Amino acid sequence: MKLRISSEQLSDQTPGLLVLLYEGTTPMFNLPAKAFKTLQGREQFEALTGDQEVWSFRSGQQAVLYLSTSQVKYFTREEKLKTLASRALKAAAKYKLSAIQVPLSITEMLAPLAEGFLISAYKFDKYKSAKKERPTPEVTFSVPGGDAKALTRTLARAQVIAEGVNFARDLVNEPAEAIYPETLAQAATEMAKKVGLEVQVLDEKALAKGKFGGVLGVGKGAARPPRLIVLRYRPKARGGVHLGLVGKAVAFDTGGISIKPSSKLWEMKSDMAGGAAVLGAMMTIARLKPDIRITAVVPSVINAVGPLAILPGDIIASRSGKTVHVDNTDAEGRLILMDALDYVQDEGATHVVDAATLTGSIVRALGTSYTGAFANDQALVNRLISVGKEVGEEIWQMPLADEYRQQLDHPIADMDNVGKGPNGGSITAALFLREFIRDGSRWVHLDIAGTSMADKAWKYFAPGATGVGVRTFAALAESLAAEGANIKKG
Ligand code: BES
Ligand code: ZN
Ligand code: ZN
Repeated sequence: MKLRISSEQLSDQTPGLLVLLYEGTTPMFNLPAKAFKTLQGREQFEALTGDQEVWSFRSGQQAVLYLSTSQVKYFTREEKLKTLASRALKAAAKYKLSAIQVPLSITEMLAPLAEGFLISAYKFDKYKSAKKERPTPEVTFSVPGGDAKALTRTLARAQVIAEGVNFARDLVNEPAEAIYPETLAQAATEMAKKVGLEVQVLDEKALAKGKFGGVLGVGKGAARPPRLIVLRYRPKARGGVHLGLVGKAVAFDTGGISIKPSSKLWEMKSDMAGGAAVLGAMMTIARLKPDIRITAVVPSVINAVGPLAILPGDIIASRSGKTVHVDNTDAEGRLILMDALDYVQDEGATHVVDAATLTGSIVRALGTSYTGAFANDQALVNRLISVGKEVGEEIWQMPLADEYRQQLDHPIADMDNVGKGPNGGSITAALFLREFIRDGSRWVHLDIAGTSMADKAWKYFAPGATGVGVRTFAALAESLAAEGANIKKG
């Protein structure tokens, strides 16, 4: 989708959809009164709007759409504007207008608007035999007297962020037949080459050599072998912080021998959303170039039912040496993450953040708008919550309740892979992961089971993958890099 800045004043002859944005009833634009006499005026807006968008058709080629932040319930100011951008795009499509004009006087709002357009323009229609011919409209922000160069940089930055988000969404929306460990590794490799990241893929032989018992154990049941994808971002000047990003990439989760019920089972093609978020974030980070060292580790398997599938009662030796009894083969995410977390710390990560569609329990606790966070370091989780809010990805901290740790004790292995009883499952899952975090490592686990897929249109997202985590991780990298720079300055 093309976005541009124009320093020219709009005229009421400009064709396309003219989008007039209001914050409440205050215009966010400044149009010459003369030319736009018929469009001006707060009274007119108030009288006409209520909660509805107001249209005025000026010809077949021209229409005016009034949008106000008061038409969007909930959410931050930025999120409201992103949502309004998506409405403008829908309106242009509905009336087959191929250009959108947005006069804007409040330029801090350019970034969220641009992001709203770019994220809402995303389509996953490659499997439709009849493609919609209509191209995505071009959006022109008219900012007379603005610093066009700086504003164009703002657009470029929004592009880089949205491309990371949409890259992750593509990976998640693809069925498991298309995206499985080897093809995910291929996609990661191609992306890494394009943006200039180091890439390493461990195949089943390398995984055996590296004693990745969890990844191999869960991967055994599928004809498609597992992979572990490693991406390294090493800027020239670096400080002491080394960020490790780890993402669960179960290309499909049947539950294994502890098989899942079939209702909505197709959704388990998205059980690699944590891995996709890490890959999308690395794509964005490589282009934004924050000054911080980052290593990304994405373990990928298919949790299948097969003659060699891991069996309940089996005992796995993890990479760390701890042994794990597999009570339930559907608690597979933690079994691949335990090895990846161990590996990323061997690589020298000081700050580790993982993202995983880990539990149904977090969906019951927080629903689909909040990602759950579990942390051994309050400063790091505070930072994640705060950058998450800024970028529009809400995070809620959950307790790592020590008291529940005993639920993971097991008579014949070091640990069991599930807690006891039906409750608190997202907490015992996080406590399980914590067993693989070493003293001194700062760590946050994000359970994105509820937030990775939208089952209906939500904010500026179409139904399907949301790419959750990409924007938060990119913002975290920038935030840690900025702090490092401050520390260096003294
Ligand atoms: N991938 C699922 C979790 C999930 C559920 C993701 C719903 C997205 C939507 C995970 O592997 C799983 O099956 N977890 C089990 C763990 C249980 C067996 C202890 C769960 O949460 O039910
Ligand atoms: Zn599972
Ligand atoms: Zn899973």
